[in-house]
Amino acid sequence: MFLHTCPIFFHDYIYPMTKITYITHENKSHTVDVQNGLTVMEGAVQNDIPGIDADCGGGMACATCHVYVKEDWLDKLPKKEDGEEDMLDMAFEPKTNSRLSCQLTVSDELDGLIVNIPSKQT
Ligand code: FES
Repeated sequence: MFLHTCPIFFHDYIYPMTKITYITHENKSHTVDVQNGLTVMEGAVQNDIPGIDADCGGGMACATCHVYVKEDWLDKLPKKEDGEEDMLDMAFEPKTNSRLSCQLTVSDELDGLIVNIPSKQT
């Protein structure tokens, strides 16, 4: 949970947070709390996780938010939308467990998700 105070009405809001672990190509693990509703890509950018460039800002037009999802999480993720597979073809060394992190919306169901970041983005 993350407590946030509205600067206008001074109400306190509690945003549900979900733990996401990002593992860099150098095998450095970063476990951070990401606000539900954001994407896995946005969680990385907001927490200065290295290796996710997100050049298009989440528009599914660059493939620079490419991650490898731990195999035991693959079935728990939403199916790829049209276009994601095409963009992944342009990613650096795509694999069967590749996803665009900008297409993964964080929710309670993703608590504990682990993603590996490739050695480089396209
Ligand atoms: S941020 Fe560009 S495809 Fe995900």
